[in-house]
Amino acid sequence: MLHKTPIILAIESSCDDTAAAVIKGRKILSNCIANQEIHIAYGGVVPELASRAHQSKIVPVVQQALRKANIDKKDLTAIAYTQGPGLLGSLLVGSAFAKSIALALDIPLIPINHMQGHLLVHFIDDERIQTPAFPCLGVTVSGGHTQLVLMHDQFKMEILGTTLDDAIGEAFDKCGKRMGLPYPSGPQIDKLAKEGNPHRFTFPIPNLPGYDVSYSGVKTAVINFLSNQEQKDPNFIKLNRNDLCASIQYTLVQIILTKIVKVVKEKKLSHIIIGGGVAANSEIRTQLQNIALKEGWIVSLPPFEYTTDNAAMIGIAAYYKIQKEEFGGFGDPSNARLKYGL
Ligand code: KG4
Ligand code: ZN
Repeated sequence: MLHKTPIILAIESSCDDTAAAVIKGRKILSNCIANQEIHIAYGGVVPELASRAHQSKIVPVVQQALRKANIDKKDLTAIAYTQGPGLLGSLLVGSAFAKSIALALDIPLIPINHMQGHLLVHFIDDERIQTPAFPCLGVTVSGGHTQLVLMHDQFKMEILGTTLDDAIGEAFDKCGKRMGLPYPSGPQIDKLAKEGNPHRFTFPIPNLPGYDVSYSGVKTAVINFLSNQEQKDPNFIKLNRNDLCASIQYTLVQIILTKIVKVVKEKKLSHIIIGGGVAANSEIRTQLQNIALKEGWIVSLPPFEYTTDNAAMIGIAAYYKIQKEEFGGFGDPSNARLKYGL
């Protein structure tokens, strides 16, 4: 059965997006996402509400993915799902659902690491994607992670640097929340920054040795700066919103960019791939393209629909697991802190 081109139903439910995709070989047939608007009212993800929303959305999203792909469930080769990392309650909904379908259809189960999925979107068969050669640098920038990973192959990933505290997406979201922007604020900051001056306000860039980064210092500096300015002028944020967004975005991107340049030069790499929600950010995309042009490096930027959480990334990772004949079992536990490495 597994010698035919595999058709995989993939499920992603690690945080606040309920997603399902169908992939045939390395081609995406459907990629469906149900966002959970409920969290906007709270200014951040409420884990218990996320689990409940996954429960109500997972069946319609899976049905939609199968319908769009024009695939009958009897044609499926395997079921893939996110094993971790993520919110435990959210992960459990996807895992229980995936296990039930795999049991009912009597087909294999494939547990996937969410962060590996973010990077493996660069191996989807799509004319917009330039598939990298190994070794390359993988950069994961999301709401929960900020990592620099040396990729030896699809699954042999060596973490060279990571954030010591907040993730870059978290810093975007928290600075945005302080400015009164809705959650998640990353896309809003990106949009408003286009009309602002990135050099109007200066925030500190930490000077850490090695390849690690830190985002909590700059987040605190922004919050303190805003509080001080508001004491002088209560309308300060409103009057300077675009310049604030541009300056904050510039600083957050510079922090990771400095380390990307350092690691690529020191490890003598020439191909960079980037994944995760913040890979949709226009400043990071432009800056990376400019540096690549200057240094003669190749930078692969994923199409937007494969940056923020999606199930296509789980499907492509599962495709490579099938090539290695690596399958999971019904007893595999969800793991909120699932690690990967050599
Ligand atoms: O990968 P993702 O969907 O979920 C996690 O695994 O965390 O990433 C979500 C994060 C949020 O922090 C969101 O604000 C950020 O990605 N994000 C952006 C942009 N689009 C999404 N940050 C900056 N600029 C964007 N255009
Ligand atoms: Zn993610």
